[in-house]
Amino acid sequence: MVDVAVMERNLAAMARLAASAGVRLRPHAKTHKTPLVARRQLEHGAAGLTVATLREAEVLAESGIDDLLLAHPPAGRAKLDRLARLGESVRRLAVSLDSLELAGTVPESVEILWEVDTGLRRIGTPPGEATVEAVLRLVEGIGPARFRGLITHAGHAYAAARPEDREAVAAQEAVGLIETGAMLRARGIPVLELSVGSTPTAPYAARFDGITEMRPGTYVFGDANQVTLGSQTLEDCALAVVGSVVSTPARDRAVMDAGSKALSADLRVPGLDSFGIVLGREDLTVDRLHEEHAVIGGAGAGGLRIGDRLVIVPAHACTTVNLHPALLYVTDREATWHPVEARGWR
Ligand SMILES: Cc1ncc(COP(=O)(O)O)c(C=O)c1O
Repeated sequence: MVDVAVMERNLAAMARLAASAGVRLRPHAKTHKTPLVARRQLEHGAAGLTVATLREAEVLAESGIDDLLLAHPPAGRAKLDRLARLGESVRRLAVSLDSLELAGTVPESVEILWEVDTGLRRIGTPPGEATVEAVLRLVEGIGPARFRGLITHAGHAYAAARPEDREAVAAQEAVGLIETGAMLRARGIPVLELSVGSTPTAPYAARFDGITEMRPGTYVFGDANQVTLGSQTLEDCALAVVGSVVSTPARDRAVMDAGSKALSADLRVPGLDSFGIVLGREDLTVDRLHEEHAVIGGAGAGGLRIGDRLVIVPAHACTTVNLHPALLYVTDREATWHPVEARGWR
């Protein structure tokens, strides 16, 4: 379920942060995967949306959203065909990638951002000369008009246990792009966009002079990872999974019916030992996930009774949402189910 008032507060806060830093906000839709929330992000002033899958792009495009960035390399004929079709219907479409070979296959209606690896060690070329060389060749191939700029994602901020470490990662993220952008401009290449993005680095990275765009995703719902990192508070968490106790087999253990098919077993940051935060119950932890069973421990486990409801803020919001066909959006007046339209990995 989603607490709409909390979500709205998060949307407004990030919009304010982007505006005060003077950067465009292009939130990542992989967290909510639904046009309903994407539209609210636009109404809060976002310039467009970021997506990770073509399905997300197609679903948002069908709902009328016309400025999209696919922040994932569109490799393979099937994806390129879908990208070409999208290029015909979306006013402004871009992809990010780190391969000249792949860039050569991207449809002409689509702009390209080059991915820089500022420390995550996922995809991208290192900042500096390696990126400059690659982009010079890219522009030779596709022409300057289709090259939009540089992009990076500081996902390694999720391994930064202290706030000062997060700030250092954000500096790495921003400075890597700014310096490389300056080198490219010195070689005569127009660089329109320097795009950074992650929820943990958002308050810091966008404030560096020269950054033009930020793409936080998780901020909309918050999760136990963000709370553990200190990048959001428990009061900022809008998303929870509601489960029921189905067994109390031992004094130190109860079992709930929301296992790994309801609560994501994905990434947990250093210091988070539970698969979620049990709301209002600091004496409970989610120790183990089986498919349909969650093993609840902690000092309060012995006091649980069959049928007790537990409300869990998941460790990772994005992968939890993707497990559910629909979310219950709750206001103080009504509760409404909305499908997670772009659910899945395609
Ligand atoms: C390319 C890219 N941009 C932005 C984001 C948003 O990051 P976060 O969920 O930390 O806000 C992600 C997250 O995976 C990403 O992969």
